[in-house]
Parts: sequence; C-alpha cells; structure tokens
Amino acid sequence: MANYEATGMVAQLASQSAYALDNPAARLYTGDCHSILPTLPARSVDLVVTDPPYNIGLEYNDNYDDDQDPAEFLAGLGAALREAHRVLKPAGSLFLFMGAWLQAESLVLLKRVGFNFRNTIPWYNTFGQAQKRKFTPSWTAIH
Ligand SMILES: C[S@@+](CC[C@H](N)C(=O)[O-])C[C@H]1O[C@@H](n2cnc3c(N)ncnc32)[C@H](O)[C@@H]1O
Repeated sequence: MANYEATGMVAQLASQSAYALDNPAARLYTGDCHSILPTLPARSVDLVVTDPPYNIGLEYNDNYDDDQDPAEFLAGLGAALREAHRVLKPAGSLFLFMGAWLQAESLVLLKRVGFNFRNTIPWYNTFGQAQKRKFTPSWTAIH
C-alpha cells in the first residue's frame, strides 16, 4: 500500500481548498436540495450519493429539525429522491445512506420512486449513536 505521507500527497491535499475539484467543468452548488435539484436538467447526472439526516433527533448547526414525525420525514425524503431519480441518467446510480431506524422504510421508498434495487451495503462504524436503554447501533445502510 502506498505511503501517502512519504510521497507528500497528504501535505499537497491539505493545502488545497476543501472545494477544489479536479475537473474545471465541474460545478458545486451549495444549498437546499429541494431548491437546487429542480433546477438541474433531467437525465443529466451520473451519480447521486446522499447522506441525508436520519431523523434521530441529532442537533445540526443549522435550523434543520431532525426529530420529525416519521411519515413527514419520509415524505420529504421521497420528494428529494423523486428529484434525484429525475435528474439521473438512465444508467446512473444512487447511493442512499440511512440509519438503522428508517433504513427499511427508505428502501421501500426507493423502490416506489422507481429505482432498481442492486444491493444494500452495511457500513459498519465504530461510533454509533449512544443509547441509554437499548443497544447502540453501529451500522448504517447504504442502499
Ligand atoms: C447526516 S448529515 C450529513 C453529514 C455529512 N455526510 C458529513 O459527513 O459531514 C445530514 C446533513 O444534511 C443537511 N440537510 C438537511 N436537509 C437538507 C436539504 N434539504 N438540503 C441539503 N442538505 C440538507 C443537514 O443540515 C445535515 O447537515
């Protein structure tokens, strides 16, 4: 395995802007996905990788409410996934990260939106969300 420290690659990467992109034609949009996705043309995107909130009551540094009624949360997620489906090319792919609590519902949602299910990758993580009265889940689904 390459020793990136020794090659100086680590220092080189650290000196770059966090938003540096290799492809000068690439565009980075920051903002609410519900506002930005509708502005993109249909069938124009190769890959969507999304790590949305998991609706587990986490506090983010913005005004996002991570403790919604599950049906309301899934309705919002469904709206974003429908837009993602619209902008993806027919051979495009989507990877959705979702915590254990609503991962089953989110997979059903993906199928309802029209995605072809390929696989679920269980991301084993060692941190989890600490629990007082139940086991701490230490995995996230990547559908
Ligand atoms: C699970 S965190 C993602 C963490 C990120 N992958 C990382 O490693 O830092 C979910 C993030 O989605 C943001 N978010 C919530 N609703 C959003 C929306 N409609 N459009 C864009 N981002 C949103 C939240 O504010 C939060 O920062």
